Amino acid sequence: MEKPLKHTPESVLVTGGAGFIGSNYLLRMVRKYPDVRFVNLDALTYAGNLANLHEIEEASNYRFVRGDISDSNLVDSLFEQFRFTTVVHFAAESHVDRSIEDPLAFVRTNVTGSTTLLDVARHHWVENGNASRMRFHHISTDEVFGSLGLDGRFSEDTPYAPRSPYAASKASSDHFARAYAETFGLPVIISNASNNFGPFQFPEKLIPLVISNALDLKPIPVYGRGENVRDWLYVEDHCAALDTILHFGSDLRTYLVGAGNEVPNLDLVRSLVDLVDRTLDRSEGTARKLIRFVKDRPGHDFRYALDVSRIQEELGWEPDHTLEDGLKKTVDWYLSNKGWLDSVRDDSYLHYYDRMYTDRLNSGGN
Ligand code: NAD
Ligand code: DAU
Repeated sequence: MEKPLKHTPESVLVTGGAGFIGSNYLLRMVRKYPDVRFVNLDALTYAGNLANLHEIEEASNYRFVRGDISDSNLVDSLFEQFRFTTVVHFAAESHVDRSIEDPLAFVRTNVTGSTTLLDVARHHWVENGNASRMRFHHISTDEVFGSLGLDGRFSEDTPYAPRSPYAASKASSDHFARAYAETFGLPVIISNASNNFGPFQFPEKLIPLVISNALDLKPIPVYGRGENVRDWLYVEDHCAALDTILHFGSDLRTYLVGAGNEVPNLDLVRSLVDLVDRTLDRSEGTARKLIRFVKDRPGHDFRYALDVSRIQEELGWEPDHTLEDGLKKTVDWYLSNKGWLDSVRDDSYLHYYDRMYTDRLNSGGN
């Protein structure tokens, strides 16, 4: 059955497009839709990297603007200049461990920044009476639902129960997005995805950290006993889902995006390091010797798992990659892009990593 088109993007503001998911999204969308204009607003924090976008930087339908989403004057002037029909909002502080160290940075970008964007969009779209042909796609996470035990899955109706400052800040931005839709009639759509992995992910996150430490023969930290479970989604499958949601999703609707790949962390780490060894033709077990059980993350969510029947049934989306295919592509990408890894692991990141992990590695597992 043909799906009815719900939104036609013409001029799109993408925030956080130099980050991991945002850059994968832009690489897909700028090439797939040459008649649609994409403006990438990114502050280029430690997590943003313009090199990710090298393949599209000269495209006539793509522009980059460096700036902060909390700067309402800047966002307003971009709305004036580019007459956006669409906002796809990725920009965020995204790492749970950093949110435990500096929660207020997460409030500034994820709460104040997101609400600034919503407010400028309201001013330009709702007050001008043309909101019905616009769309504000707010990109969120499954972490807003909290932590599962051994059974059950999150659905779109699961009550919010965030447990880390990161999750609380994302939950807050989801609430503001919904409040702007209900109160002001802003055409908001929200998607909440599970753990993404793939090319261009900053190496503070589990999968690229394990690959890069296995490559460099450095200790591989596993929090607690490695029993926590995540539901892994290959980033290109997430971006395909976002493309579908943008065009065919319904206003004021939430869609969960996941691929049903639940794995306990230790099992994932073992498969990954074995894959790195095989790809590098090293003797079996080389990288397994690097695994260290370290002090657990405070408030560590035990398990995430998603019921994705809504996006499958209403929008016909299915992931194209098995977990195995996605991990193979990811390992191959990192091993062929050592230059990218070295460039993002600058002095300030190495300093952060040493501070975070020396203590954890010395404390051992619990
Ligand atoms: P990321 O940390 O890799 O990238 C974030 C980007 O936002 C960077 O380019 C950064 O420079 C930019 N940014 C940060 N603060 C900004 C500000 N104040 N103004 C403008 N730009 C700013 O993040 P990611 O992993 O690509 O995640 C993107 C979005 O998807 C986030 O909203 C995140 O919550 C959500 N999400 C991520 C995952 C995941 O597994 N990575 C899963 C579900 C949802
Ligand atoms: O669920 C979606 C979320 O997934 C996104 O919203 C977040 O932006 C993203 O960072 C991710 O959050 P997690 O905390 O699940 O991802 P992270 O890669 O930090 O950790 C994955 C699991 O691995 C988690 O259980 C903690 C554990 N871990 C992590 C690191 C960095 C380790 O055991 N060792 C590590 O060194």
